[in-house]
Formats: sequence, structure tokens, C-alpha cells
Amino acid sequence: MRILITGGDGQVGKAFSRQVQNHELFACSRSELDISDPASISKAIERYRPDVIINCGALTDVDKCETSPELAMSINGHAVGLLAAQAEKCGASLVQISTDYVFDGEKDGPYIEADSTKPISLYGQSKLLGEQLAGSNALIIRTSWVMSLDGNNILVKILRLLDEGNELKFVNDQIGCPTFTDDLVNSVMKLIESEVAGVIHVSNSGSTSWFDFAQQVAECAGSDSKQVSPISKSDLNRPARRPANSVLENRRLVDLGFPPLPHYLDSLNQIISNNKRPLQ
Ligand SMILES: NC(=O)c1ccc[n+]([C@@H]2O[C@H](COP(=O)([O-])OP(=O)(O)OC[C@H]3O[C@@H](n4cnc5c(N)ncnc54)[C@H](OP(=O)(O)O)[C@@H]3O)[C@@H](O)[C@H]2O)c1
Repeated sequence: MRILITGGDGQVGKAFSRQVQNHELFACSRSELDISDPASISKAIERYRPDVIINCGALTDVDKCETSPELAMSINGHAVGLLAAQAEKCGASLVQISTDYVFDGEKDGPYIEADSTKPISLYGQSKLLGEQLAGSNALIIRTSWVMSLDGNNILVKILRLLDEGNELKFVNDQIGCPTFTDDLVNSVMKLIESEVAGVIHVSNSGSTSWFDFAQQVAECAGSDSKQVSPISKSDLNRPARRPANSVLENRRLVDLGFPPLPHYLDSLNQIISNNKRPLQ
């Protein structure tokens, strides 16, 4: 397959470039392919003639989305409609990466694909619009708490703060499923190769709070977990609300016969013990 990646400089985009060896992959950064610009999309499609477009481009700063609603709706929402229209025209299938933040977090238990969406932030609303505009033939991957050793993400931040000997404060009233980009990409590629469509949850197994997770990272990296102390979401006074519970059950993935993703603690251990690269 010829696969076009948007948002190729982001952490998920980079993981596709790193991992996919058995297909022709064309990863475009925002400067080459701006998903909010129809001319830029058609230029890239003419150039790369993709069979599949994987949209990893997004405004992922949740608080910035809250303070810049038009920008959020444009990039995370309407741009997906533009991509879907052009994908259909050239006969390519569309894969849209979406989020656990489409849920309000009030459920007592993990969310399945059939649960009602009710975003409580502009980021969640804009990503939900993206799901709706992706079209009925698209594969929509809802994932959560995405991390890797690439770029600016929470795992890199925790490791850096621990290294510098800082005191870390993490919320203990928000739970979810940490998901490692390499595990995510592995699973998404299996779904693409099997031509699965519709909404599907893809996250690492297991769930945790940010506080417990930061302590687990400290233990795993050989740092002192006492550097991490618990706070509440309300202590942070951030512009955007976060769902208290956004644990994703990967029910459809398993029902379709695909293997569940590894437990996040196994992947965390592996990524830290294999890391020979300096943090970026
Ligand atoms: N990170 C998470 O915890 C998380 C959780 C659930 C779902 N997701 C979803 O996973 C996907 C990938 O996220 P990520 O973690 O890889 O985020 P990321 O590292 O922030 O990457 C997003 C990329 O999109 C690019 N981008 C922004 N505006 C664009 C535009 N108009 N056209 C093309 N590209 C544009 C960004 O470029 P610039 O840096 O140049 O702006 C960046 O390279 C997103 O759809 C996100 O919503 C992420």
C-alpha cells in the first residue's frame, strides 16, 4: 500500500515512519501538508497517490484548544472533512486518530465504542466533529494518553523532571490508559491491513491515575518515587476540563479477533530499559 501520513512530525506520525517497513510510506509535516488547506491536501494527494491516508495531524494542546476554539474546530474538526472528501475522490481510505476525550468521564467503568459521547472540552468537541466528518467508510481509532520518547509528551516530561531532581505533582483524580506509540501503530496497521472501518478503541491494557503512573515511571527509571506527590485536577486551574475517567475498553478490537495491546507497565519497562537515545 501507498500510505500518506499527515502530521508526520508529531509523535504518532514519527512512530508510523519508524515502524512501517512493509508498505510505501510518505510522511508529511505540517509545512508540506496543511490539513486545513484544501489546495495543500490535493497537492500532496497528486504527488503521492495514496491508497490510505492516516491523519495524525491535530491541535493536541488541550488548553490551547479551549482558548482558541475556532482554530481547534478548524484543525481537529473541519479539516477531517476536507481530507475525507479528497480521499473519496482519489479512492483512498481514511484513518482518523481520535481520542478518549470525546467522553465526559462520568461512567462508572471503562468506555466501550457504543457508549454515548459527551465531550467536556473544546478539544473533545473538535475531535468528535472530526470523527463525524471522517465519513462512514473511515477507520476511526480512539486512543488515549499517548506517549513515547519522541517529542514533547508526558513521559519525556516526567523523566526529565525526575532526572533534574524536581518535585513532581500529578493528579490522582483522573484515570485512563497510557498508550505507547509503537504498540498503537502495530495495532492500527493490523486493522488497516484487514480493511476494518468504523470506530474502534485502541489503547494499552491496564489503567491508572496520572499520580500512580508518574510514580511507576520513577520506579522503572530507578528514581525515587517519593519525588512524586498527589494533587487534584482542581488545584491546577487549567482552562480545559479533563474527563475524570477515560479508561477505554478495547472491546471491538478483541471481538474482531485482534490481540489486545500489551499492559502499559510492560511497555513502559521495555521502552525505558531499551532507551539508549538521549531524551529529545
Ligand atoms: N497525545 C495524546 O495524548 C493523544 C491522546 C489521544 C489521541 N491523540 C490523537 O493522536 C493524534 C496524534 O497526536 P500526537 O500525540 O502525535 O500529537 P503531536 O505530537 O502534537 O502531533 C500532531 C502533529 O500535527 C501537526 N499539525 C498541527 N496542525 C496541523 C495542520 N493544520 N496540518 C497538518 N498537521 C498539523 C503538528 O504540527 P506542529 O507541531 O507543526 O503544529 C504535529 O506535528 C492526534 O489526532 C491526537 O488528537 C493524542
